[in-house]
Amino acid sequence: MTNPSLLILPGDGIGPEVMAEVRKVIDWFGTSRDLPFDVSEDLVGGSAYDAHGTPLTDETMAKAQEVDAVLLGAVGGPKYDALDFSVKPERGLLRLRKEMDLFANLRPAQCFDALADFSSLKKDVVAGLDIMIVRELTSGIYFGEPRGIIEEGNERVGINTQRYTESEIDRVARNAFELAMKRGKKLCSMEKANVMESGVLWREVVTEVAKDYPEVELSHMYADAGAMQLCRWPKQFDVIVTDNLFGDLLSDAAAMLTGSLGMLPSASLGAPMANGRPKALYEPVHGSAPDIAGQGKANPIACILSFAMALRYSFDKGDEATRLEQAVEKVLADGLRTADLLGEEGVQPVTTAEMGDAIVAA
Ligand code: NAI
Ligand code: MG
Repeated sequence: MTNPSLLILPGDGIGPEVMAEVRKVIDWFGTSRDLPFDVSEDLVGGSAYDAHGTPLTDETMAKAQEVDAVLLGAVGGPKYDALDFSVKPERGLLRLRKEMDLFANLRPAQCFDALADFSSLKKDVVAGLDIMIVRELTSGIYFGEPRGIIEEGNERVGINTQRYTESEIDRVARNAFELAMKRGKKLCSMEKANVMESGVLWREVVTEVAKDYPEVELSHMYADAGAMQLCRWPKQFDVIVTDNLFGDLLSDAAAMLTGSLGMLPSASLGAPMANGRPKALYEPVHGSAPDIAGQGKANPIACILSFAMALRYSFDKGDEATRLEQAVEKVLADGLRTADLLGEEGVQPVTTAEMGDAIVAA
């Protein structure tokens, strides 16, 4: 049997710094858990532009289509801000998402006990929180036509169109139900069926898909009410499925219930490949953090937890993913903090590498 394959794209800024710590974790699984990966590494974003004049070469794109999973750091930085839109670092990431057709974006919001005090909400509201937001990623208002800014009479009009086909709703709903089956068997679908036809269709299709998952308890909520409930009592949720626009907002809000950007992983999944594994890209939610790049201050946990998601969702190694998450939990409980997690007086921050080493040791 061949080893599972991983394409690593560290990217720019703190991307390579946090990815170096993930490499330690990957190596550990190879030597200590008999779980070796075939790892290849390539350029994306500004670093690819510097080398090749494009933020993602066709060769790298082809490689991404072949591997079992892609793990990406972050792209972008002030050095590239003046570049033409067509070669901006972000275009590399957008091309990956688009050509791999990654329609389901999984954003967990999980509260590690040691960081419960760090939340802006009361401790008992967030302690033990573990929810998953599934955001539709390749359709909806960010892509719908017509779009643009037009002249109408003597003023300009800005236009974007929310558009969802049944099949687009069906596939992301199935993805969310499958996840719910592996978790708490509870799914809440959020839209605005009260004021949007696309929301009416969304609710109908999700209700239809639910017939294939009789064990999952399905509820529907208007997305604005959902936003309120997420702040009031987030633990009422297990899996939430929603569209691209609402998911963008709700997942950012839910993520912040639990603390720092440096802690947040994500997965973007597409259709199953020939081997049954979904097309998959894993990446931390944060960007390239140019303000702290090169200083050893970056928190590698978001990227390490993204690899844990890869273990769980691409490689069917949920137990190993849990093992990794428990190591993160342990170092946090031991009091280790990168600079972004400092709240308590008198605690000295550890470096990116020290955090990575401690997690491997744990
Ligand atoms: P950012 O996420 O890079 O940084 C926001 C703030 O959070 C900064 O103060 C940063 O120091 C801090 N931060 C982020 N990740 C951290 C970590 N792992 N450990 C400790 N602190 C961390 O977002 P920003 O500043 O808006 O964007 C910077 C660059 O990153 C831009 O070029 C932007 O386009 C790009 N970007 C790329 C993304 C991606 O590759 N997926 C996502 C968001 C932004
Ligand atoms: Mg966003």
